[in-house]
Amino acid sequence: MTDNHERTLVLLKPDAVQRGLIGEILSRFERKGLKIVGLKMIELDDALLATHYAHIVGRPFYPRLVEFMQSTPVVGICLEGLDCVRVVRDQLVGNITNSRNDAAGTIRGDYGMSTQSNIIHASESVNAAQEEVPRFFDDDDLFRYDRILDACLYAPDER
Ligand code: PPS
Repeated sequence: MTDNHERTLVLLKPDAVQRGLIGEILSRFERKGLKIVGLKMIELDDALLATHYAHIVGRPFYPRLVEFMQSTPVVGICLEGLDCVRVVRDQLVGNITNSRNDAAGTIRGDYGMSTQSNIIHASESVNAAQEEVPRFFDDDDLFRYDRILDACLYAPDER
């Protein structure tokens, strides 16, 4: 694996869980060629949310965001691939928080009408991903394996 095969964190939020979109969204990542190296349902407690949303804890909407994020378990996904953080956030998820403004073809753009209920979280930078993956996944929850598909997805110097 080359150095720029990064890992990123994705959370499928309670609106995705309630609307039965888990499989549809997961398959978008699989079809793109991203490798799933971690996958689990997680109940988010107050402390974890306060860490994850430290930059917005004081905002007026924070209490209702917490209520929303605790309304069902979320699905945590750790994805791996070449330039994975940028590909996931900018190309697949949509990088505008208000999903009404995300481009059609992105996950938020195709499924969302809201800022709070925006379907999905994805790490916004390589640094953020390096902090967020261990926040939601212990080492034991993350897997290394050879994927036969990589020979089709990448040129030799990209693997
Ligand atoms: S901000 O406002 O730019 O600092 O926030 P941002 O980094 O874009 O968003 C952080 C998460 O907060 C949620 N958010 C909101 N929820 C409810 N109401 C309002 N107005 C609101 N603004 C932001 C947003 O869904 C982001 O969640 P993540 O998990 O990062 O996608």
